[in-house]
Amino acid sequence: MANIPVEPSIDSTLWLLRDGYKFIGNRCDRMGTNIFQTRLRLQKTICMRGAAAAEVFYDNAKFSRKNAAPPRAKKTLLGEGGVQGLDGASHRQRKQIFMGLMTPERLQQLSDLTLHHCRQYAQRWQQQDQVVLFEQINEILCRSVCEWSGVPLPETDVARRTLELGAMIDGVGGLGLRYLRGVQARQRVEAWIAEVIEQVRSQQIQVPEQTALAAFALHRDANGNRLDTAVAAVDLINVLRPTVAIGRYVVFAALALHQHPHCASKLAGDDPDYTTLFTQEVRRFYPFFPFAAARTCQGFDWQEYHFPKDTLVLLDLYGTNHDDNHWQEPDRFWPERFSQWQESAFDFIPQGGGNYNENHRCAGEWLTIKLMEQILNFLVDELEYDVPPQNLEVKLSRFPTLPESGFVMENVRFKN
Ligand code: HEM
Repeated sequence: MANIPVEPSIDSTLWLLRDGYKFIGNRCDRMGTNIFQTRLRLQKTICMRGAAAAEVFYDNAKFSRKNAAPPRAKKTLLGEGGVQGLDGASHRQRKQIFMGLMTPERLQQLSDLTLHHCRQYAQRWQQQDQVVLFEQINEILCRSVCEWSGVPLPETDVARRTLELGAMIDGVGGLGLRYLRGVQARQRVEAWIAEVIEQVRSQQIQVPEQTALAAFALHRDANGNRLDTAVAAVDLINVLRPTVAIGRYVVFAALALHQHPHCASKLAGDDPDYTTLFTQEVRRFYPFFPFAAARTCQGFDWQEYHFPKDTLVLLDLYGTNHDDNHWQEPDRFWPERFSQWQESAFDFIPQGGGNYNENHRCAGEWLTIKLMEQILNFLVDELEYDVPPQNLEVKLSRFPTLPESGFVMENVRFKN
């Protein structure tokens, strides 16, 4: 057995804040390895990247999600008691509620709703000097997903609920005020959704059976018990919040269109598959979640290394998507690469890897792709706009990151 290379530093938490998405990749490159050991928040942590690392990371016999997420993520992004922290049969059963929502028909309904709202909003954009795409698309997604999920959203609440769902995502990587906004937003949204769930249970509101609200509010386990209200709220929010998060990918797609105009011509051309290639490349190329976290549930050997029991392990999602062992010229934006992709469950993992039902791979990956494609087609086929000078820098030290300006558009008009 070889020793896992150790980073020579007492604690690397500050370096993680500084290096952001490149934290694991930089150290792997420097040490000439795909795995190393460090200390984060004074805790021994193994970091790894690449498809082979992803394959072992998603082996349920070796890894558990119990106590894996950092407390700050629970207070903002994740909440307590949701699907992300479950293992084994309880994970499979809860995950089934999510995956049951992801039928082609239901995804098409959400996509249609989103297109409808895009068209409505764009009517207004025509009257405005400038539009910040990030703000607008988040509102569109918030409206669409609440309607699709059966969650009542009065017109007067659209703006603040959008901001709250956005703050839960933005707060996870923040210090100070940004973090506190995220914590406060989670408390408010949990209180709102718990009340809606209670109203469904007491039949004060009727909700169609196939919706996410009905699924979480009325689910009964094998013993006939309902989910605890707070837990049902956390998991229903696990549908609402990440759907609003797709706004970040839409902004990255708009940025890619702007910076690679030849892609825009291809998108407008007659190869319908190009939209999918472009969408996949946006999800591969741009940073979203830097890594996934799990704990070893037993000691085991992998390759030439020993992993001790109950050790925190981080899998580098961003670094795996940019691994030059798998991706030719990984730092080049090149959608065509996906026409050769073998659909491995482990080399392209912006939303986690492995199997949707058995592993913690993102429940909303199909939904994400569907909405990205729909909105991208809308931007390319139906709209014209100018992109004024602005700060489009994407800071890799900021998590979660975004072009600094949020992508400002001017002179928006419908194509004839
Ligand atoms: C899990 C990313 C959109 C629902 C995850 C994970 C990542 C991720 C990295 C964790 C994988 C792991 O721990 O191994 C993203 C990104 C999205 C997105 C980048 C695009 C903005 C969505 C959407 C939904 C969703 C639209 C709505 C249904 C979930 C759920 C989990 C999850 C429920 C937990 C799955 C589990 O623990 O089994 N996502 N996601 N996500 N995502 Fe997404």
